[in-house]
Amino acid sequence: MNDILVDSPFRQDVLKGLSSNPKYLLPKYFYDAKGDQLFQQIMGCPEYYLTRAEEEILRTQSRQIIQSCAGTNPMFDVIELGAGDASKTLYLLQEALRLRCSRQYYPIDISTGMVDYLDRMLPPILKGMQISGRAGEYFPMLEHIQAESPTAKLVVFLGATIGNMLPEEALGFLEQLRGLLQEGDYLLVGFDLKKNPQVILDAYNDKEGLTRDFNLNLLHRMNRELGADFKPNQFEHFPVYDPITGSCKSYLISLLAQQVTFDDTVIAFERDEPIYMEISQKYNEAEIQELAAKAGYEPVDAFFDSCHQFVDVLWRV
Ligand code: AVI
Repeated sequence: MNDILVDSPFRQDVLKGLSSNPKYLLPKYFYDAKGDQLFQQIMGCPEYYLTRAEEEILRTQSRQIIQSCAGTNPMFDVIELGAGDASKTLYLLQEALRLRCSRQYYPIDISTGMVDYLDRMLPPILKGMQISGRAGEYFPMLEHIQAESPTAKLVVFLGATIGNMLPEEALGFLEQLRGLLQEGDYLLVGFDLKKNPQVILDAYNDKEGLTRDFNLNLLHRMNRELGADFKPNQFEHFPVYDPITGSCKSYLISLLAQQVTFDDTVIAFERDEPIYMEISQKYNEAEIQELAAKAGYEPVDAFFDSCHQFVDVLWRV
């Protein structure tokens, strides 16, 4: 086996998760090149309403969002956690330029490729805005930016990525984030809202099987990168949604008793044994308010799409 992979964090995390009871894998590993491509397709599929809803919010309400921030901070830097291709954020940035409220955008993303792409693509579209992409983990990058620029901040965390944390993890994340911001800074966070349970379940079980393939791709990835010998057709995608807690969880179920080998490590699966893959937590408005209060933010405004499926909340530190 390739030496680099023997001690890679990916291998360590995978073996830890698959040696646990119940077994789990970390969703951050969904996003290799194939996973990125599948996620792009999921975002465009009919059942996955989240991206369209948030795009509508930013397309139609960016002016109000920027005006709310500008009320107390006439000039601010925009920092985005997990910028991706920044297609939705572009609406906000264009409005911030138009209203002369910001001249600096720091997109942070774990993917170097994505950050390079933004550094290249955005300057001609956002004339007058300095683009300073940072590839890496959110908090260390944010610390660097804070040390570099004393200007007030609007931190943007879109796409319901906060839903990929358990509610207690989301609280810890928001508290840690607040510790890195200055009084008067703003945070814009996207939450997917509780709604008809079937609508939510369908979003994670699309007819085309894109979400199934997205989950199974992680097994293929372990075969490719870690030399494992998963037979992905011996696992089944199984999403569940609990309308009381709002947790939508995805599992892969082993269809038979089987063994998977990673080099010298053998992982045994019982028939019907699940691997917990991902949580996509849904919230109601009261739960979002409670989260803001517990994490030490002051809610300023909430921006909903026209079908009330999704909300971008604006909080002040
Ligand atoms: C990135 N994240 C917000 C998506 C979600 O809705 O939880 C990831 C995803 N998983 C399956 N479909 C989409």
